Amino acid sequence: MSSVVLAYSGGLDTSVAIRWIKEQYNLDVITLTIDIGNARDLPAIAARAQQIGAVKAMVVDARADFMRYFVWPALQAGAIYEGSYPLATALARPLIARLLVEVARAEGAIAVAHGCTGKGNDQVRFDVSINTLAPDLKIIAPVREWSMTRDSEIAYANEHAIPINVSIANPYSVDQNLWGRSVECGVLEDPWAEPPEDVFAWTANPDGDEHIEPTYLEIMFQHGIPLALNGEDMDGVLLVETLNKLAGKYGIGRIDHIENRLVGIKSREVYEAPAGVVLHTAHQALESLTLGRDQARFKEVVAAEYARLIYNGQWYSALHQDLAAYVQSTQRFVSGTVRVKLSRGHCAVVGRRSEHSLYNHSLATYDSGDQFDHNAALGFIKLWSLPLSTQAQAQLLPSVGIEGNLLSLDTSS
Ligand code: ARG
Repeated sequence: MSSVVLAYSGGLDTSVAIRWIKEQYNLDVITLTIDIGNARDLPAIAARAQQIGAVKAMVVDARADFMRYFVWPALQAGAIYEGSYPLATALARPLIARLLVEVARAEGAIAVAHGCTGKGNDQVRFDVSINTLAPDLKIIAPVREWSMTRDSEIAYANEHAIPINVSIANPYSVDQNLWGRSVECGVLEDPWAEPPEDVFAWTANPDGDEHIEPTYLEIMFQHGIPLALNGEDMDGVLLVETLNKLAGKYGIGRIDHIENRLVGIKSREVYEAPAGVVLHTAHQALESLTLGRDQARFKEVVAAEYARLIYNGQWYSALHQDLAAYVQSTQRFVSGTVRVKLSRGHCAVVGRRSEHSLYNHSLATYDSGDQFDHNAALGFIKLWSLPLSTQAQAQLLPSVGIEGNLLSLDTSS
């Protein structure tokens, strides 16, 4: 019989999907459960898949690849969607899509399947990636295709003796991996409602009673990639896990975001990304020291484009390759150490150093030893003002004053 490879999380939707696909499409279901740091009992999940009827249940540890090929490039790029979201969920999708395709090829499957709904970004990210990598593979998205409510899914599960775990009545929809945790639904759908504490799992309440002393942390980067914490070398997985725990204790990394989904909806998502927030903050501080002014300014434009591209599911694109080449070039001298201070709810950069630092003390100092040519400033200012004063004389006076600039904002008439 022909087969399909299903991305299997072990949750209600994909558990029901194993049985549903078999019934609906008459295909053998191979499940693929991917470890990207989402802390689950993987052998138990695989066993459940087989119990429900999967012909084969595969588990792949993709944590190292996730860090190396997805998280680090996004950190180097400074990719933060709409200035808030470090893109944990969005970054994992092209990796999962790729693994689905690889397993489908190895197993000779004719289709792949995922558990996305029909109104989110993730279906787009999966489908676009799969269409790009393997246009001949059919894509099955049971949750998008069936019209079952949660209750009818549970009824379906009971009817078919599908073991499910709905005792944990979680009112939220959660997705998590090493780079962050995404939470939506429930009371969060009211943008005026403050997220209740039960939304958070990785971060302590920054306003809690427990006393916690601030701590200092030195993060060593090479070419924009963090390699050591407090002098201790760590691989990406360990470094991010360690930082998630440490910064999480300080309640660092809570993000409350009204975001613009690709499918046109504004939605409210709460994120926890303790390591992501600390590392982006530190990385940016190191760039401030090692990138020239124009490089830094242009990189902001690239960062915003890079974040949009990740969010919008265009990972496997020529534009991405082009931007990635630019980003790699910018990171040539982004090596050094950043010292951050963690205190309740806050991560502050308090020191930075690099062999490639562009900071020149004798130019910056106000003390003796100052080598900056103060007289040269006069000539510079003269030429810098020249076009402004020329244009003001010819066109703008006398309207260039404070009121002149406000004319278009006048609402009195
Ligand atoms: N809004 C985020 C994104 O599109 C996260 C989506 C998944 N969130 C969830 N709670 N299941 O990348």
